[in-house]
Amino acid sequence: QTKRSSINRVHPEAQLLKEGAEWLKAGELVAFPTETVYGLGANALDAGACAKIFAAKGRPQDNPLIVHVCDQAMANPLVRNWTPAAERCVEHFWPGPLTLILPKTALVPDIVTAGLDNVAIRMPSHPVALGLIKEAGFPVAAPSANLSGKPSPTRGSHVWRDMKGKIPLILDGGACEVGLESTVLDVSEGIPTILRPGGTTKEQLEEVLGEVRVDTPSVNQVPKAPGMKYRHYAPQGELFLVSGLQERVVQRIGHEIQRGHARFKRVGVLCTLESAPYLQNCFPELLFVLGSKARPQEVASNLFEGLRLCDERKMDLILVEGIEEEGLGSAVMNRLQKAADRRTRHI
Ligand code: TXA
Ligand code: MG
Repeated sequence: QTKRSSINRVHPEAQLLKEGAEWLKAGELVAFPTETVYGLGANALDAGACAKIFAAKGRPQDNPLIVHVCDQAMANPLVRNWTPAAERCVEHFWPGPLTLILPKTALVPDIVTAGLDNVAIRMPSHPVALGLIKEAGFPVAAPSANLSGKPSPTRGSHVWRDMKGKIPLILDGGACEVGLESTVLDVSEGIPTILRPGGTTKEQLEEVLGEVRVDTPSVNQVPKAPGMKYRHYAPQGELFLVSGLQERVVQRIGHEIQRGHARFKRVGVLCTLESAPYLQNCFPELLFVLGSKARPQEVASNLFEGLRLCDERKMDLILVEGIEEEGLGSAVMNRLQKAADRRTRHI
């Protein structure tokens, strides 16, 4: 009974936004596109509606939700104290792929913050997301619209696969531009700290804020963004991450494809545009081009589609070409390392 409606991503149809807002007002869930990934939205001020999010995703209760607003005025009643760093972020990066962690007011239900004193707030730049929130008239809590443990959805088809039968409406605005989740930045006190790398780069933040730290909890420490402790997406197959000089990478992947075939494995390769022509000759069962290594943006926007394809086509061995860890490349590599966890082999 899930309806999937195509919506214009530049000029969203008013009727569809209204339909979405009606469901949200009735305490139901609506999936909608943002510039990062698809969100699974509920009225952030309605604890009962938010509880449905956890049920639909199979999400652990201790993982808090991001609250989405269409302007700063909508965020004001939720925030106890806007720090100077937060104000600067709003001015420079909103609307956009940056989530701010700030002290919350009593208006924010406990289920949204998983009992924490801080709330995560973001103003997306996608016209459909903004239009839907505006039409609803209240802030919208929304995690990524995937089943817990799967990669975030960056296409309407991904949401359909994970959420059909569980929610009344999916607004399908096609592919998400950024393709990776927002950067989560703690600006509640002290030096601004990145809790999750994402669509807004550390370099961009430093330009505006000066010193920026990265929360890199060691094995026994609890990360400040509760969601970062989960294993996240792990594909069915074994995943090898191969980075380094291109010639070596191509050689190595070629060798691993052969070995995979010798062991009767279905081999999937996610690689850059630059390496693809060479790897084609090794005949992997799936060759998916992530994009040019000169354009990490392109790689980011195709990454989750590529990982999902490997599972759909039942690859037992997945070889992924890494890219340089700078700018958006840092977030891409963060997701790849998490995707594989202990099954990753860096070679
Ligand atoms: O791009 C995005 O951020 C997407 C779109 C839909 O906006 N949303 C998203 O939400 O990725 P989700 O729930 O999949 O990831 C939210 C992350 C989790 O790691 C969570 O632990 C962290 O943000 N988070 C949420 N509230 C927090 C809080 N109060 N303090 C610290 N971390 C928080
Ligand atoms: Mg998520």
